[in-house]
Amino acid sequence: MLIAIDGPAGAGKSTVARAVARGLGWTYLDSGAMYRAVALARLRGRGLPERIELGERVLSDGEDVTAEIRTPEVTAMASQVAADPAVRERLVEMQRELIAGGDWVAEGRDIGTVVAPGAEVKVFLTASAEERARRRAEQEGRPFEEVLAEQRERDARDESREHSPLRAADDAVELDTTGLSIDEVVDRIAGMVPGA
Ligand code: CDP
Repeated sequence: MLIAIDGPAGAGKSTVARAVARGLGWTYLDSGAMYRAVALARLRGRGLPERIELGERVLSDGEDVTAEIRTPEVTAMASQVAADPAVRERLVEMQRELIAGGDWVAEGRDIGTVVAPGAEVKVFLTASAEERARRRAEQEGRPFEEVLAEQRERDARDESREHSPLRAADDAVELDTTGLSIDEVVDRIAGMVPGA
């Protein structure tokens, strides 16, 4: 079984997907971490990593890059490498290999549309741009206006790229999390699982 959670930056995908996975005893897939690992390699003048391992720590060709992939520089580069069809093709292949076995909660931009169109549950998580930037600014201890401006740029790039742009799958349930607590969002998603 697979729950696909897609949506723009700061909608709460990671927190919510992780909590849903923990609650159900399923495995969590952070597809964004893969794009970030590719972005870090690009910033260092390297090609695509051959192996990206996700878990408590993120390993890129064996190197622990857990902290390095969360810098604003890598974040901006991630949405640039994510527009490259060759990068997408390779990462989608890795993601499909992972989710082929077991039960998963996978989050990203294209899980419900491209990676796993057959997912049993598809959620498109949103919130107002201001609310998303407010959450991120608080999380990272950075100025709101700066985060909002970067987020606008990244959302625009993710939504307008030619390959696998950010959009809700036709059969996704859109969930606006503005004003909702994490627990409320987690409960709603867990309640969508067939047989739950
Ligand atoms: O958590 P946040 O939304 O800030 O970012 P992320 O999920 O780690 O993704 C970073 C970037 O990777 C996004 O801005 C997208 O450009 C790209 N991405 C993608 O294109 N497709 C995915 N399935 C996941 C991430």
